[in-house]
Amino acid sequence: MMENDIQEVLFSEEQLKQRVQEIARQIDEDYAGQEIMLISVLRGSFVFMADLCRAIHLNCMVDFMAVSSYKNGTTSSGQVQITKDLTEDITGRHIIVVEDILDSGNTLHYLLNLLEHRNPASIRLCTLLDKPSRRKVPVEVHYSGFTIPDAFVVGYGLDYAERYRNLPYIGILKPYVYGGQ
Ligand code: IMP
Ligand code: MG
Repeated sequence: MMENDIQEVLFSEEQLKQRVQEIARQIDEDYAGQEIMLISVLRGSFVFMADLCRAIHLNCMVDFMAVSSYKNGTTSSGQVQITKDLTEDITGRHIIVVEDILDSGNTLHYLLNLLEHRNPASIRLCTLLDKPSRRKVPVEVHYSGFTIPDAFVVGYGLDYAERYRNLPYIGILKPYVYGGQ
């Protein structure tokens, strides 16, 4: 059972649900009377995106992008590759990029810069988790669910080697799983 590979539950289903509601209320307030477009960065943010978009009451479009910067390890390669681009044109739209976790910042630094060049009306970042101690490049965060210490976490969309995404909570993986002790 995948639950056996979890050392500690960091955020329970209930805690995640409540925080997602709070973020959605903030977004509803900040963009009152406007239409927004949520852009989910696949694959890690798909669960967060699904819950967040259903908690938002504004008119809201969704689109998806896929990037890869991790090669089956727990550290960033620093190289970002777009493996799936947006379907929609974002010109003149209010964009919120939805991410699972902000770590070194490499992925989002690259992605936000790329999207800004497509002339959206505005662009903000919403990340469920933030590991500020790991930052290598600066990234401006507008909505952040939880700040976490430097530990590798899985669940609620986040993976290790494509596994554990379906855990309903967020937990710290036992180090033996990725070859630690
Ligand atoms: P960054 O480019 O280093 O900021 O990495 C961002 C991406 O790395 C995230 O979107 C995740 O896919 C992945 N990542 C970073 N930390 C973790 C973690 O603790 N667990 C799972 N994935 C992570
Ligand atoms: Mg990701």
